[in-house]
Amino acid sequence: MKQAFRHPPIAAKFPYILHGGDYNPEQWIKWKDTVWKEDMRLAKLAGINTLSIGIFAWSTLEPSEGDYHFEWLDEMMDLMAENDMAVVMATPSGARPAWLSQKYPEVLRVNADRTRNLHGGRHNHCLSSPVYREKTAQINARLAERYAKRPSLAIWHVSNEYGGECHCPLCQERFREFLRKRYGTLDALNAAWWTAFWSHTYTDWSQIESPSPTGETSTHGLNLSWKRFTTEQFVDFYLCETAPLKKFAPSIPCTTNLMGTYPGVDYFRLAEVLDVASWDNYPHWRGTDEDTAVGSRVSFLHDLTRSLKGKPFMMMESSPSATNWQPVAKLRRPGVHALQSLQAVAHGADTVQYFQFRKGRGAAEKFHGAVVDHEGTEYTRVFHEVADVGKRLKDLEQIVGTFTPASVALIYDWNVRWALEDAKGFLQSKTNYESAIINHYRAFWRLGASVDVIDSTRPLDGYSIVSAPMLYMLRPGFAERITAFVESGGTFVASYITGYVDENDLCFLDGFPGPLKDALGIWCEEIDALYPNETNMVVWNGKTYKAFDFCEIVHCRGAKRLATYGKDFYAGQPALTINHRGKGKAYFIAARTEQAFLNDFYASLVKESRVHRALDANLPEGVTAQERSDGKTRSIFVMNFTPFPKNIILDSGKKYLAPWEVWITQGNNEA
Ligand code: GLA
Ligand code: ZN
Repeated sequence: MKQAFRHPPIAAKFPYILHGGDYNPEQWIKWKDTVWKEDMRLAKLAGINTLSIGIFAWSTLEPSEGDYHFEWLDEMMDLMAENDMAVVMATPSGARPAWLSQKYPEVLRVNADRTRNLHGGRHNHCLSSPVYREKTAQINARLAERYAKRPSLAIWHVSNEYGGECHCPLCQERFREFLRKRYGTLDALNAAWWTAFWSHTYTDWSQIESPSPTGETSTHGLNLSWKRFTTEQFVDFYLCETAPLKKFAPSIPCTTNLMGTYPGVDYFRLAEVLDVASWDNYPHWRGTDEDTAVGSRVSFLHDLTRSLKGKPFMMMESSPSATNWQPVAKLRRPGVHALQSLQAVAHGADTVQYFQFRKGRGAAEKFHGAVVDHEGTEYTRVFHEVADVGKRLKDLEQIVGTFTPASVALIYDWNVRWALEDAKGFLQSKTNYESAIINHYRAFWRLGASVDVIDSTRPLDGYSIVSAPMLYMLRPGFAERITAFVESGGTFVASYITGYVDENDLCFLDGFPGPLKDALGIWCEEIDALYPNETNMVVWNGKTYKAFDFCEIVHCRGAKRLATYGKDFYAGQPALTINHRGKGKAYFIAARTEQAFLNDFYASLVKESRVHRALDANLPEGVTAQERSDGKTRSIFVMNFTPFPKNIILDSGKKYLAPWEVWITQGNNEA
């Protein structure tokens, strides 16, 4: 395990947990003498010390071309300074004024079917458009120049939830440039994309077009390249947006709010250009015992976001109550708001922020949960719950910057997901890469073992277990790195559908799992896909577990068989193998199994690898413990994700946890 230490606070001038969130004073500009002032009073009452402003404020900042209006923002900045609020300031590129689309139609996004959008909504601009880049850079420069010296400016919130893609002629041209750089020659591109298939060979760069439902979707190399290109577009656009921010305010950290495992952008790549990672957390809490599954998924997403930069992150948005766009806009059960907020901190967040502070009066988000409701006072249940969170966060100041000690790395890789979901084989609609990874994650979560979620390009030093379920694509160098990891004493876990293709999505020709054959000591000859109600069995240690979806047929080539299939023509063949290599070992789980198998399997690994756990106790189902540490003091968050009371047996006696309770304790026990 890596040595724990304390990172500097995200915003140097604000060394405490930031509590607050999205605030749209421009929607209340006519009531600024009353509503704005009342908002400051209410915010302080709720223990709020930060507000994020300017998100989607472009039409108020620049109502017509070149006609800038900052006076209202100056006033708001004064008000926030008087009230000791840290300002998270957004650049407004997430949505643009109508004049901009009207005058420069090239900024309107083009869909995959090559139809151009009308003006409206948000997140619908072209990322290549020189006009959009110029207009964005201009307004960002004015914001930065004007507010750089304000002491309350804490963090830049660049745009909003970068996502989608544009297929306009400008983007096609940039795509071709990207491909020229990556492949050098058309011959190399044709070879990498296997274009002799269905006569898809390109003879001129200009023939290459982005994938489209009315055109090309069957060239997997093209599809994959387009995803990679789209990520690079966001990286490039972000750099365009931040250049003026860095010029005028070099010490203010920049971020953009991410969306968990949003499939359209490789966040490990985008994170390279962020100063701090941040994300928007909208769980579908049920208020029932199903929340254990919801909670473990949210923990996974926090760990993923933290691992992007390997340091404390921001929970930039979360709803303090119902989330209007969810199919069932369920109210948070009392206590769940605190649980959701402290869960983020437990996993390394140094901010608890909401969408939104004050509920808007009209338009599409008027019924989205907010700290202050339409009724406008502090006398609501939600307000009280937020204020309680404010109090608890104030007591946690010493946690800011602390480290999350993980000796387990779980691999989640966007490139693998893109290729796998495009694979056209196995069980097309049930590949379920993300949920499969989360099932493995949950087996650690329930033991209170912290996990870093990294992609397959990240360093492996310091981990005792690396688990990489469904690593369909092997990116260059991974097999060599994992082999070295195992030889030096690490434990590696792989599963069905691993090592099928290389980084160009071309199959390995000398047997699966390709370059991992030696490390795992196996050869996977065939894979059986099961119909929805079909099952097989994995027989391990005298127990029988259900297998479904995928059963891979494996031959040991140096590995030992630990479990076998219970039926069908491959009954008795290996379903779990171990290969000893150097000082370490490599396991292969051949089938998709019920959770109980993963729980038992990883519990035995955690025990034998002496994996660090937050609490040295048996945690009841639905409870996890997570830890933050500065190397001296360990803060342990014990969280009950169920509507039932739970008891934990500790050396010091029995600890009772109420439904949804979070118990925070200092630890010195070396688990
Ligand atoms: C996203 C956006 C916000 C808001 C919320 C509502 O996360 O970033 O502007 O629309 O959703 O849940
Ligand atoms: Zn475009």
